[in-house]
Amino acid sequence: MAKSKHILLIIGGGIAAYKAAELIRLIRKSGMTVRCVLTESGAQFVTPMTLAALSENEVHTTLWSLKDEAEMGHIQLSREADLIVICPATANLLAKMVGGIADDLATTLLLATDSPVLAVPAMNVRMWQHAATQRNIAQLRKDGIKVMHPDEGAMACGEFGPGRLPEPEAILSEIVRQLGGEPGSAGLAGENELGANPLDGQPAFAPDQHRPLHGKHVLVTAGPTHEPIDPVRYIANRSSGRQGFAIAAAAAEAGARVTLVAGPVHLPTPAGVLRVDVETALEMERAVQNALPAEVAIMVAAVADWRTDSQAGQKIKKEGAAPAPLQLTENPDILAGLARHEQRPGLLIGFAAETEKIADHAKAKLEKKSCDWIVANDVSGPVGESVMGGADNSVHIVTGTGTEIWERLPKAEVARRLVAKIIEELANV
Ligand code: CTP
Repeated sequence: MAKSKHILLIIGGGIAAYKAAELIRLIRKSGMTVRCVLTESGAQFVTPMTLAALSENEVHTTLWSLKDEAEMGHIQLSREADLIVICPATANLLAKMVGGIADDLATTLLLATDSPVLAVPAMNVRMWQHAATQRNIAQLRKDGIKVMHPDEGAMACGEFGPGRLPEPEAILSEIVRQLGGEPGSAGLAGENELGANPLDGQPAFAPDQHRPLHGKHVLVTAGPTHEPIDPVRYIANRSSGRQGFAIAAAAAEAGARVTLVAGPVHLPTPAGVLRVDVETALEMERAVQNALPAEVAIMVAAVADWRTDSQAGQKIKKEGAAPAPLQLTENPDILAGLARHEQRPGLLIGFAAETEKIADHAKAKLEKKSCDWIVANDVSGPVGESVMGGADNSVHIVTGTGTEIWERLPKAEVARRLVAKIIEELANV
């Protein structure tokens, strides 16, 4: 689909600008053309020469070029693109867009364009979390700009958290999606080289099935939640997020639109998946409800059962011999809440972490949480060998009609089989 599409790539001033070079390579490789606009601060990080060589197109840097105005006005430049991609989108660029400021070529184009715009933010974690940035992003989304969620991880500045530029492969998948293409489709994100693929490169469904989840929205939760005690301590669990990420990847490969609500984990975002990072159970609940409606929801996250009553504003100090008592409050049950929701997904799947009487406890959970299936793991075993955090899983699938047991399998294989079972179920509805 992408053969004749044209991208206008605006490169803002951040250390992640160097990744724009790789993005250009991937865009070209997928058959699209790309023309670059480099901001003044972007030019501190990459040179016009690099971008021109990779894009095989002239690079535009200034509003005041007579040659450009004679040959191609900035209005035309902004309108000829099928999609404008801002990568990296700095906090400053985003703020200017919200205010409608047009004081250089990039911001003028963004104000003048009638093409769709995809912003790919990258910035320091504190800048990302700042109320001003979050307010700006909410406004831009209301204005119809697609804003990708940044990845979480170690940053060039030495800090850690959300704010990293997503991998170029994930950006390409989003570009394809914005252009009306199909993430995970052959030749694009489905290829190993072009997508973070927790599925070991194996397709999630038989090649003769043509994208069986196309048109469906699949919502997945993954990872643990962190419940803060004070600014430096939190309650957590050993969930790695790997099973949930593999399921999200398998559903995207099968053609679904996938929203992955991820607790704090350091895994790359699977190709073609929309990731929403959260920290606490309350944030996860909000993100899940915001993502509705969905045809299928798979709640893989190991949600902390309790949070502290109140969070200390300062680090709690050791005072005397007795440890400070923690007052806990129960977290909402996100899965049970979804089962009662007026937009309840047609197929609602819970996971269960059990250390004994797996099938019995799973059946009880199916009833208690009013979901359609429970995928129960045996998480007993010593730390390091347990399913939690490990590469393999062995599961009981409990449905209204019976129980299947899948003996020890890699998590990617569990994901593939589960998605195949979902496809079968939806075909029978
Ligand atoms: N779950 C949820 N919200 C919670 C707790 C759990 O949505 N506050 C979901 C999990 O994502 C999973 C399922 O409920 O899909 C079961 O999680 P599990 O931790 O096994 O069960 P709990 O309800 O916490 O029960 P218990 O800890 O007593 O076994």
